Amino acid sequence: MIRRFYYMLPPSFRLLVRRAVFLPVDLYNGISGKKENLVPPRGMIYTGSGDYVKTGNLFLKFFIEHCNLMPNHRVLDIGSGIGRIARPLTSYLLPDGSYEGFDLVDSGVSWCKKNISKQFPNFNFQKVNLYNDLYTSKGEKAEKFVFPYNDEEFDLVFLVSVFTHMLPDEVDNYMKEIHRVLKKGGKCLATFFVINDDSLSLSKGNKFRFDKCFGNYYLMDEKVQSANVAFKEDFIVDKLIADNSLSLNKIIYGYWASGNVSDKISFQDVVIIEK
Ligand SMILES: C[S@@+](CC[C@H](N)C(=O)[O-])C[C@H]1O[C@@H](n2cnc3c(N)ncnc32)[C@H](O)[C@@H]1O
Repeated sequence: MIRRFYYMLPPSFRLLVRRAVFLPVDLYNGISGKKENLVPPRGMIYTGSGDYVKTGNLFLKFFIEHCNLMPNHRVLDIGSGIGRIARPLTSYLLPDGSYEGFDLVDSGVSWCKKNISKQFPNFNFQKVNLYNDLYTSKGEKAEKFVFPYNDEEFDLVFLVSVFTHMLPDEVDNYMKEIHRVLKKGGKCLATFFVINDDSLSLSKGNKFRFDKCFGNYYLMDEKVQSANVAFKEDFIVDKLIADNSLSLNKIIYGYWASGNVSDKISFQDVVIIEK
């Protein structure tokens, strides 16, 4: 109910409502000196309700354990948000490693530039002008977007909770671009809501489930399509990954469908891809 009301608001207004709701907490934290280094005020964190620090740390663990991330690697964070995944990387990547991030939301990119790039000049953020009905009210089409990087620049490309807000043609184009910018042997970690027999039956009756099927993908809200998007597992593996000359390494299923919360796996399904 609250979620539906929230989605009825225009994107920039949603950010303002969030700032207003969390203003008392943010003021208290500011006055009492409870502010943590490299953690934005609560009202600015528009990128998900989970614990900002714990989520970032969990993904750093995935990068090291499943993607062989090394401190001198060059990484690309697509949909870098407000620095949730960049933050733990600042204490892992050495000065001869580097980070690039891009996103559509100005307030997130500006916060990251001011707070992260200032302290870590090997961390670079840029805003891109793209349309997404959850996050922006205008912009170019993501299905035609060419990433602003050279071929084979990156050891690791990651998208945390980004393909869960994009439609099939957009994801297909991003996979093509990921193939272009990844080094040979490089890895990509992307989170999805994976639809297979297990997730369909586990999520039946849950509040968080995908009822609206459009063939290879599912939506939760038809009015704000990018609010939550799920893809069939064989479509992810055969079309989005294999048809873009990439290969599946593994899928680490999350707990969105079962509802069995865990610190060791993420809410969304984690798909590890390689070139
Ligand atoms: C749920 S947030 C996750 C942000 C960040 N990855 C994290 O885990 O904190 C989704 C982000 O994806 C961005 N996004 C949506 N469509 C995008 C696109 N086509 N290209 C790049 N970023 C996009 C949004 O602006 C938003 O910041």
